[in-house]
Amino acid sequence: MFYVPSSYSDVIDEGKKLTFERKKGNCLACHMIEDGELAGNNGPPLIAMKARFPNKQDLFNQIWDATEKNPNSFMPPFGKHGILTKKEINKIVEYLYTL
Ligand code: HEC
Repeated sequence: MFYVPSSYSDVIDEGKKLTFERKKGNCLACHMIEDGELAGNNGPPLIAMKARFPNKQDLFNQIWDATEKNPNSFMPPFGKHGILTKKEINKIVEYLYTL
């Protein structure tokens, strides 16, 4: 089988990896996420994302730069600081939409 990176389930898999990986999203440091181990609770649990963020762009913006919505946020501005690329954040958004 050839690897087809554009298939939807691969995007979800990659998004999940980026979310969990300590050197990338490391979202588990602060957020409880289904399947995640040793999760922190400084941030709200990431559940029912589609219902709570009907607009994908809002979810993207929260990850790109959380300080836009909340200037005092201590969630790292992943996009603005170049920790994650646009493409990577889009994959994370696709994965979060499955939660
Ligand atoms: C250092 C702690 C920290 C890390 C790491 C972190 N967050 Fe957050 N996050 C927060 C806090 C605190 C909030 C609460 C709102 C705010 O302060 O911006 C939040 C809010 C959110 C929200 C809004 C949730 C809601 O219910 O309104 C989303 C979505 C989110 N984070 C996603 C992520 C993703 C995805 C990652 C990994 C790429 C991540 N966060 C990494 C601390 C963190």
